[in-house]
Amino acid sequence: MTALPATDICDVLVIGGGAAGLTLALRLAEHATVTVLSKSSLKQGSTYYAQGGIAAVLDSEDSELAHVEDTLRAGGGLCHRDIVEFTVRRAHECVEWLVAQGVAFSRDEHKTASTVPGNYHLSQEGGHSHRRVIHAADATGKAVFETLVERALAHRNIRFTTNCVAVDLLTSAKLDLGGNRCLGAYVLQEDTGHVATLAARFTVLATGGASKVYLYTSNPDGACGDGIAMAWRAGCRVANMEFNQFHPTCLYHPQDRNFLITEALRGEGALLKLPDGTRFMPSYHPLAELAPRDIVARAIDAEMKKTGCDCVFLDISHQKPEFIKTHFPTIHARCLSLGLDICRQAIPVVPAAHYSCGGVVVNRDGLTDVDNLYAIGETSFTGLHGANRMASNSLLECFVFAFSASEHILSRLSSTPVSANLPHWDESQVTDSDEDIVIAHNWDEIRRFMWDYVGIVRTTKRLHRAKHRIQLLRQEIQEYYSNHRVTTPLLELRNLAVVAELIIDSALQRKESRGLHYCLDYPSLLDTAEDTVLSPVNVATQPRMP
Ligand code: FAD
Ligand code: SIN
Repeated sequence: MTALPATDICDVLVIGGGAAGLTLALRLAEHATVTVLSKSSLKQGSTYYAQGGIAAVLDSEDSELAHVEDTLRAGGGLCHRDIVEFTVRRAHECVEWLVAQGVAFSRDEHKTASTVPGNYHLSQEGGHSHRRVIHAADATGKAVFETLVERALAHRNIRFTTNCVAVDLLTSAKLDLGGNRCLGAYVLQEDTGHVATLAARFTVLATGGASKVYLYTSNPDGACGDGIAMAWRAGCRVANMEFNQFHPTCLYHPQDRNFLITEALRGEGALLKLPDGTRFMPSYHPLAELAPRDIVARAIDAEMKKTGCDCVFLDISHQKPEFIKTHFPTIHARCLSLGLDICRQAIPVVPAAHYSCGGVVVNRDGLTDVDNLYAIGETSFTGLHGANRMASNSLLECFVFAFSASEHILSRLSSTPVSANLPHWDESQVTDSDEDIVIAHNWDEIRRFMWDYVGIVRTTKRLHRAKHRIQLLRQEIQEYYSNHRVTTPLLELRNLAVVAELIIDSALQRKESRGLHYCLDYPSLLDTAEDTVLSPVNVATQPRMP
């Protein structure tokens, strides 16, 4: 890992070192110099924590058409069919590339006449009509991440950093240079507190999602929607922000509230039960425990409200212990460390914010509304997920769009100049942050009212309450930001507040209940399915720009 100089120039600046950013960097590195930024420690992205796997049609008895139809069905009529087909078609190629990089996916040792080349074990998750999820036991993200990081670190053309937080994008519009193209970014170096100026031909946002905007989440601390907020401030449209996905089954334990219990467990027969042992999913959906995620999360929420229980239970104890330990070693060990033996006991679970289906609007090359600026992975809105992402389609989207964006960048590399002599970050008018308690308090307040007012079940009244609060908080945060030196918590809070307001505004715009957006005042579906697209009004006014 290398440190950043105060100013630097590269061909491609990749903000984010998860599945999307690392894949793009590796695809480009033979032809371009690439700087990859990641904030805080290496494990701040969601990729490392991914459990279930990657959806791809690998079994000759499965079909791409079935994967497309399943995705469309889970997406509640809002997926863009052309993008779903495009993504599903490229899945095979992406998995082959990952295998070539060295990712050790689990194999099915017991199958003799497998219909899956390579004998890979495929698991089943909610919404999928076929076993289709390739995985590395229950720690797929770790296997992918560690392999790609190792490759990136070894490549002479990739500068891979940690503790570097992109503050804002530099654009020709903000600098009054005409048009709106991205020129690079300002980057806070957490170790020194200095803000570096990085110029690049192309900038790629691969900053992950925004589920940290909710009090309870499966996501790591870094998932604050930085890329979405930066893109918004730079003039990009964002879409479908109301569709924040709640994963039905996160561990409910006083010492461990954020640990995910993979959907693959339900794929292997785990049952959801009330505290008295009664199953409830069959009365909600014909697919019961394997219904799409929005339905399962809402059913759990309804049962918890109806019965007053603090959690429900996920029970796989009817499977053989050897099977459980082989397929779910991470979950087995983590629960055991908390005194819970999943071979014998049911797991207490609750829903938690998990995935941002909306994001920065991009085309199939990952290009945003701002020229030379791309967005890939969870931070983007491609049209793939519609109103509810199907399990294990997220990592797939990271790889497919990293592939297509890298191809597009390569086709424009020699004809796109880099702007040297960008203005330095201006700290002449600010002082050191003097009241960190304000930042911590605002963080908590946003996350709590988002959970209470903009959660699994919404009402217009609660959304208006949330809107009122976020407007006040944003003013306060903006004032604080304008007067103090930037720190990571302040930058994250500023971005979190932008994203919270985008989610609230999008939720207020949707006058129906569809997929993950369920509003008691508009319980039915409208006849036409439309994306909620928000456009920034004024992109030129930016504080702290020289
Ligand atoms: P991330 O992996 O989140 O990486 C974001 C990167 O951006 C990080 O390096 C971070 O440090 C960096 N960053 C963010 N902001 C800044 C900034 N301002 N400056 C510099 N760097 C910044 N999906 C599946 O398809 N299958 C699964 O099995 C699965 N399981 C999951 C399990 C869990 C617990 C979670 C949380 C998610 C899971 N998902 C799964 C979703 C999937 O993991 C994520 O959507 C995906 O990994 C996102 O990858 P990404 O590259 O877009 O972003
Ligand atoms: C899980 O393993 O349940 C998470 C899968 C996903 O988010 O796609």
